[in-house]
Amino acid sequence: MPILEFKGKYIRITSDKPLRNQLIEAGLSPHNGQSQWFNCKGLGTCGTCCIRIEPALCSEPTAMEKSRLNFLPFRNGLQKGFRLACQTRLLSDGKAEKGKGFWGEEFD
Ligand code: FES
Repeated sequence: MPILEFKGKYIRITSDKPLRNQLIEAGLSPHNGQSQWFNCKGLGTCGTCCIRIEPALCSEPTAMEKSRLNFLPFRNGLQKGFRLACQTRLLSDGKAEKGKGFWGEEFD
């Protein structure tokens, strides 16, 4: 079972459900601020569950994820290492980060 480092904690992740669900269950929401309440609940359309994952092996991006990460504010998000936690399943150990801002795509 892969282990993910996120927000200074290490959690075991199963590959049978999306990362977003497991992070929320662990009390480590991938949403910032008000996006915790204003989001698409895992449909892959809002982009507010965006996280940057490295160097983990993950499921292939879904068509919805590819589309959303190519649109504002991400633009070529997959090339920047962004994934949508609601569309992603973790397949190996790794580390995830959440940036600043409503979507969490702002990194220093
Ligand atoms: S929760 Fe909306 S894209 Fe993931």
